[in-house]
Amino acid sequence: MQGRVLIIAGSDSGGGAGIQADIKACAAMDAYSGTAITALTAQDTLGVHGVHPVPLDFIRHQIRLSLRDIGADAIKTGMLGDAATIDAVCDALAEDGQGIPLVADPVMVAKGGSNLLAPDAVATLKRRLVPAAALLTPNIPEAEVISGMRITGLEEMRAAAAAMLAMGVPAVLLKGGHLEGNRLLDLLATRDGSEVFESARIHSRHTHGTGCTLASSIAAGLAQGMALRDAVLRGRAYVQAALRTAPGLGQGHGPLNHGVTVDPARIEALTHGADAALA
Ligand SMILES: Nc1ncnc2c1ncn2[C@@H]1O[C@H](COP(=O)(O)OP(=O)(O)OP(=O)(O)O)[C@@H](O)[C@H]1O
Ligand SMILES: [Mg+2]
Repeated sequence: MQGRVLIIAGSDSGGGAGIQADIKACAAMDAYSGTAITALTAQDTLGVHGVHPVPLDFIRHQIRLSLRDIGADAIKTGMLGDAATIDAVCDALAEDGQGIPLVADPVMVAKGGSNLLAPDAVATLKRRLVPAAALLTPNIPEAEVISGMRITGLEEMRAAAAAMLAMGVPAVLLKGGHLEGNRLLDLLATRDGSEVFESARIHSRHTHGTGCTLASSIAAGLAQGMALRDAVLRGRAYVQAALRTAPGLGQGHGPLNHGVTVDPARIEALTHGADAALA
């Protein structure tokens, strides 16, 4: 195991997205993960059925303890819910998380359509979270809200990414999963230039948590000392492998196979008393 990630996000009781996806993605990348939970959601593959926020003091407490004891080599934020939570998280990170690269996934709407960020929180997100991040990972609808631009293709993705860089974040990974078509484009934009990563769309309804999984696997890569581009490439390859081998659970948008990197032969060895080989 190498690299420590602190994940600050909401819990998905369905296990496919949120904190649960984040922890599984870090483990799959062989990184450690600690958590500060911002909200509990009662959720399944069909949608979000309830949200129970965590008191702000308690969110700050989790972040402080995690950073002061175990520490972190990268931090990932997911669902923050409202402006007060964004402020509390940014305050806690300014106190104890200085200098640690932050991957901010600006989660706004769940795959099933439920709102995960109060509409009046967008200004706070732009003012506090975006400039604090080392990498921002919006999907198309989130990039439209943050940049105030309509995005229907690659040229507009480039313009929106430039607008977000101008808000003070050094790198933006604008995810193209929500655009139509069989070619899927993700744009990585930095102040030094941009690069488009292209892949074939995997036709599947089991896409719950792709965004959380990608952001956390990139955070794991940064925690392990990888260059940003390498961490993005590995994260994308991981998400695609996890999509391709999704277990097909649930009646809606089912989860990915987060354990696609796990070696069954090593688990089998445990059942035959060969645990010494793993020590
Ligand atoms: N059907 C698909 N086939 C292949 N790759 C996909 C597919 N859907 C999403 N991806 C990839 O998954 C990653 C996440 O992109 P996406 O646009 O789905 O994020 P998201 O909307 O934030 O996800 P979430 O709904 O989980 O928050 C990107 O790298 C994207 O290219
Ligand atoms: Mg997302």
